[in-house]
Amino acid sequence: MAICYINGLFENKNSAMISIQDRGFNFSDGVYEVMSFINERIINFDRHIKRLDRSLDSLRIKRPVSNPKSLELIIRKLIKLNHLNQGFLYLQITRGSSNRNHLFPKSALPNLVIFTFTSKIDKNMITNGVKIRLTEDLRWKRCDIKSISLLPNVLEKQSAYEEGLYESWQKRNNFVTEGSTSNAFIVNSNDEIQTHPSNNYILGGVTRDTVIDIAKNCNLNIKEKAFTISDLLTCREAFLTSTTVKILPVVKVDGKKINNGKPGKITKILINKYSEFITRQIDE
Ligand code: PDD
Repeated sequence: MAICYINGLFENKNSAMISIQDRGFNFSDGVYEVMSFINERIINFDRHIKRLDRSLDSLRIKRPVSNPKSLELIIRKLIKLNHLNQGFLYLQITRGSSNRNHLFPKSALPNLVIFTFTSKIDKNMITNGVKIRLTEDLRWKRCDIKSISLLPNVLEKQSAYEEGLYESWQKRNNFVTEGSTSNAFIVNSNDEIQTHPSNNYILGGVTRDTVIDIAKNCNLNIKEKAFTISDLLTCREAFLTSTTVKILPVVKVDGKKINNGKPGKITKILINKYSEFITRQIDE
């Protein structure tokens, strides 16, 4: 039986209940994190907690569990109860449940829900790369908050899927911001690894930040500056990053081939270095 954690209790994932007055349900008034784990070891836990804290502070939502160590213990117990060696977890915190009113409730306690899930990556996507499309970025100007309000992301991911593509990369004023579920990178004509700076127009991905650190450690050049559509269409390589897929080469954009439709050299180096990084985290 799949078990989830809900406000202090471990319950059956399929029958656990939350109030219909939960502000996440009524207003999308909440935040989330998706983390990956291997053998009870949560990859990049500290970075996820730091971002979670930032998201909560930005929305003025109280922490349901104040100590990250206690949260880690809850998550580890949840992983154990679900008998999983490897997988992902979804953690959501909303402002709580109360009568529907836009104003913050005075006394509601935040609702915390955590559940595990598994997801298989098609190895073909890593070895052959994925195809993507470009679209307008219709989101608000606080994309740095990992809010559960994901309507534009859902619509753009669905449109990509219906066109047989993996992802939609969003653009604002001719500059690529990020994907609907991932961060966007290119290797530009100066062999620099270029990605949008971590500001209010993108979600500062945990995988993105780790990849930047890894690249710096390998003495690869990093440029945190937004790239244009024409930079993208003339780039040497492109790839995307997220917790669920790690690093995927991008080989076609709106039908136009990148690097002759093949994953690039630097992308492959980063894929290998990233899996070494994960192995090191598990062994620590
Ligand atoms: N999404 N940008 C957006 C809009 C995202 O939704 C995600 C991840 C990322 C990558 O962030 P990270 O490397 O921290 O996973 C960037 C998660 C996986 C999701 O919503 O399922």
